[in-house]
Amino acid sequence: MENMVNDLKRIFAGKRVFVTGHTGFKGVWLMEMLDLLGAETFGYALAPEGRVSHYNLIGKKFQEKIGDINDPMTLSKAILDFSPDLLIHMAAQSLVRQSYKDPVETYQTNVMGSLQVLHAAAHCRSLSGILMITTDKVYENKEIHYAYRESDRLGGYDMYSSSKACCEILIDSFRRSFLSPDQYGNSHHIILCSARSGNVIGGGDWNQDRLIPDLVASATGGVSVAIRNPVAVRPWQHVLDCLNGYLMLSARMMEKDLGVSGAWNFAPNSDDVLNVKELADEARKNWDKIQYHLFKDPDTPHEAGLLLLDHHKAVSKLGWKPRYRSEQSVRLTMDWYKAFYENNELITRNQIEDFLKSEPHEI
Ligand SMILES: NC(=O)c1ccc[n+]([C@@H]2O[C@H](COP(=O)([O-])OP(=O)(O)OC[C@H]3O[C@@H](n4cnc5c(N)ncnc54)[C@H](O)[C@@H]3O)[C@@H](O)[C@H]2O)c1
Repeated sequence: MENMVNDLKRIFAGKRVFVTGHTGFKGVWLMEMLDLLGAETFGYALAPEGRVSHYNLIGKKFQEKIGDINDPMTLSKAILDFSPDLLIHMAAQSLVRQSYKDPVETYQTNVMGSLQVLHAAAHCRSLSGILMITTDKVYENKEIHYAYRESDRLGGYDMYSSSKACCEILIDSFRRSFLSPDQYGNSHHIILCSARSGNVIGGGDWNQDRLIPDLVASATGGVSVAIRNPVAVRPWQHVLDCLNGYLMLSARMMEKDLGVSGAWNFAPNSDDVLNVKELADEARKNWDKIQYHLFKDPDTPHEAGLLLLDHHKAVSKLGWKPRYRSEQSVRLTMDWYKAFYENNELITRNQIEDFLKSEPHEI
């Protein structure tokens, strides 16, 4: 039980980690987790949007620069001034529905912005590793009962998914062109990886058009929320399971394990998948104020009906395993929002500490 905490603390304590997208849902959890592990962090992102944000609630001043990844001068200066050991790139236009509304901005941020990050980071001599966060949606989804592996064909029906698939092609090309393992120690000292995680849930997410924030809004606003795709299956995953994957992979990069260079899936066990309605029911079991109704909107843009991800590479090569099953992930998520809305408490740090003490479950 102590091993995971000790291993991560041993590697991260005193390390300098540059995080893009630190004002977003996953970013705040990552900054807090790195802080608990003794790392020194620096965040780079746009200011948070919306009335409530986890970032503002944390009430702590992160070392940071509020800026755009598409502003190469500011970005490059922030990276070089901080001299990080590791860079985790999470900044993105992260919403499928928004990508239908603004495909240009989605591509500008997710593809060109990622290139700006890679270009700036490749010139930073202190870096040992760059971790680029893409998504489970990068695969050419045939909507069959099959869990995609890292070597499967990339694709994307909607503009968000395809922008992230393009980002994966960009990362691979950048690696071959400038950061190849063959040239390690000669022309560069950086290991470049990408991570594709599941549909992430957890407290502190107030993004629009995501299931958990919609369900929470129903509980706090006393209104029923419309559920659009009740039978859609997703690889739901607790934010801490996902971040643990990122950190275990990053640890190997910082230990200069060239073998990890490449793409990695982090997803729940294959027997642990819920559809949207099952997830909503699970949420309501934990918070009876949640109300929803099923609504078939003919104008709903296309979203995948079935998506599964294979995690065997991460399990066998990194020793990563999910710690929370989906029921537990939903319970912890609802605990977070109930603590916030009903007791005015922020339990982010307690949940991270509990996670670090937890045992992985059998696969
Ligand atoms: N949440 C999920 O279920 C999920 C699943 C798989 C992958 N991802 C990926 O993980 C990453 C983080 O997701 P999230 O849920 O925290 O997203 P989020 O939308 O909550 O946060 C996005 C972050 O990116 C920043 N950002 C956006 N455009 C920027 C720009 N032009 N310049 C600088 N910063 C910019 C925002 O300020 C914010 O900090 C994203 O890359 C997302 O695509 C998320």
